[in-house]
Amino acid sequence: MFRPSRPVSDPVDEQPIDEPPIASAARIAAAVRTGMMTRLPRPPHRRVMVVANQKGGVGKTTTTVNLAAALALQGLNVLVLDLDPQGNASTALGVPHAEGTPSAYDVLVEGVPIKDVVTAAAHLPNLACVPASIDLAGAEMQMFGMEHREWLLTRALEGYDLDHVDYVFIDCPPSLGLLTLNALVAANEVLVPVQCEYYALEGLTQLMRTIEMVRSSLRPELVMSTILLTMYDGRTRQAEQVANEVRHYFGGLVLRTTIPRSVRVSEAPSHGQTVLTYDPGSPGAMSYLDAAREIARAAFDPPQ
Ligand SMILES: Nc1ncnc2c1ncn2[C@@H]1O[C@H](COP(=O)(O)OP(=O)(O)O)[C@@H](O)[C@H]1O
Ligand SMILES: [Mg+2]
Repeated sequence: MFRPSRPVSDPVDEQPIDEPPIASAARIAAAVRTGMMTRLPRPPHRRVMVVANQKGGVGKTTTTVNLAAALALQGLNVLVLDLDPQGNASTALGVPHAEGTPSAYDVLVEGVPIKDVVTAAAHLPNLACVPASIDLAGAEMQMFGMEHREWLLTRALEGYDLDHVDYVFIDCPPSLGLLTLNALVAANEVLVPVQCEYYALEGLTQLMRTIEMVRSSLRPELVMSTILLTMYDGRTRQAEQVANEVRHYFGGLVLRTTIPRSVRVSEAPSHGQTVLTYDPGSPGAMSYLDAAREIARAAFDPPQ
């Protein structure tokens, strides 16, 4: 069995100057496997981040679970709410979500307390998940006829003891319907994953209009705080052009870290894992660790 040669209080994931990439990968992998990661500071206030972009396949779910895992591995307490009926976030966190499993559907439509459906993630400390099952697919229709239909998630979170929770991440379906609206109303921050491809900015105007509408009539505190460039393929000029364009428009909101396109990231969910435990030394895992650090530090130094 691998035995760390350093005391637990001395994290091994800080990069020495001039370290070759292969050595960084080995060092990070060892740090994740032995739990010897740097402890990130708890944010001054709990951060409720909704991961939204009404385009499908841009990396919302991948970003939700990997950032959540990266923060949890670095000592923070994280709750993931899966609001996509496909339940891909639940899958990646190793949380059961077969049809009929108590899930976000029961919370939103039946008023079941979150504590009755929340489940610990399979391979990660400090991380719990409210799963989504296919039952959620018909929820928007049912919610439409309910009183205070935009506030159902907010009410559910108010009824849950969040004292120990540092970050809440909400994974949204690829639409701006009632599920996403409930997520926006319950959150303080929107994190938008943007895929580095030609039509990356398409639809963002609509998302920003929705955020503005929520701010003006339902949740004035809500801000779009973070943009993360995902699936960056350094071999194409197009990825670089898109990244430059997004940085030009959104400036300081865009994290310096970009997430590379990496096959290990897409393989991990089929093993019921995030890439952080599946292959912690892979480029995708290391980028999500970097992105998580940037996000955690922004809690103390918010973008202008
Ligand atoms: N960095 C990445 N490298 C390779 N594949 C990725 C990466 N990020 C996401 N994917 C893959 O792209 C697809 C869409 O990602 P997903 O997170 O499910 O998007 P969304 O939740 O926005 O629909 C999935 O198959 C996922 O595994
Ligand atoms: Mg998704």
